[in-house]
Amino acid sequence: MSSKITIPKLWEMKQTGQKIISVTAYDFPSAEMLDSCGVHLLLVGDSLGMVIQGKENTLSVTMDEMVYHTQMVSRATQNALVVADMPFLSYQASIPEAIHNAGRFIKEGGAEAVKLEGGAQVAPVISALVKADIPVQAHIGLTPQSILRTGGFRAERNEEKLLIDAKSIQEAGASMVVLEGIPVKIAEKITQCLTIPTIGIGAGSHCDGQILVFHDLLGLNSRKPPKFVKAYTNLRETARQAIMSYVEEVQNGTFPNDSHCYKP
Ligand code: KIV
Repeated sequence: MSSKITIPKLWEMKQTGQKIISVTAYDFPSAEMLDSCGVHLLLVGDSLGMVIQGKENTLSVTMDEMVYHTQMVSRATQNALVVADMPFLSYQASIPEAIHNAGRFIKEGGAEAVKLEGGAQVAPVISALVKADIPVQAHIGLTPQSILRTGGFRAERNEEKLLIDAKSIQEAGASMVVLEGIPVKIAEKITQCLTIPTIGIGAGSHCDGQILVFHDLLGLNSRKPPKFVKAYTNLRETARQAIMSYVEEVQNGTFPNDSHCYKP
C-alpha cells in the first residue's frame, strides 16, 4: 500500500482512531526531515512571518512569499500532504480572488490543500474553493489574522459559537479543521460532533491530530513561544554551541586543518 497521505486517508485515520501528526514547514530541509520522520501533514503556515521573517505578527505576509515557501516544501515532500496557508486578505475580499489565490498554491506551489482562518463567516469561501476542487483545512479558536479586531492573540472560547463555526465549516465542505487554543472539553465535543478530522494546537489530547510549529518543536526560537507548545529539544542552544566552536577554532587557527583543505 502506498504511504502517500491523501485527504481520504486522513478521514480514514479519524475513523480508525490513528492520530494525525502535523508540523509546519517552510523550506526544503525542514520538509525533507519531517517527511522522512513520517509526519502526515506539512503546513506551510503564515507563521513564517514571525518565525522566519522575524515580524511581530502574520498580517503582512504576501501571497508571493507563501507560494515561494510552498514550492520549497513540496519539492522536498514525498509522502506527507502539503497544505498552504492563505495569508491575510488573500481570501476575504471576494470569492474569485480566493479561488485565484488558492489555485496559485496548487498550480505554482505544488500544495494539495489550502488553509484559511475563520468559522461560519468564511463558509461561502470554503464552499466555492471545494467546488473548484481545492481541498480546504479550516482554522478556528485562536486565529492570528484577527488580532486587530480582537486586540491581540486571543482565542474564541464561546462554546456555542465554536460549535456553530465547526459545523458550518464541515457543511461547507472543509476536509479538516485546526482547533487552536480551545478549552480541552470544547475541543473534545467538536471532535466528537464532526466527521472531518480536528487537528489541535493547545486544544488537548482528544483532537484527531496535533500540530506544532517547527521552530517551537525544536526549540529554535529566540522569542518565547506560546505556553501551550512543547519544545522537544533546544536546537538553538546546540546550534549556538557549534557556531561558537567554529568562531573559536578559526580564531585560534585549529580550523581548517589539513583534512579540510581542497586537494585537486
Ligand atoms: O500559521 C501557522 O503555523 C498555523 C498553525 C499554528 C496552525 O496556523
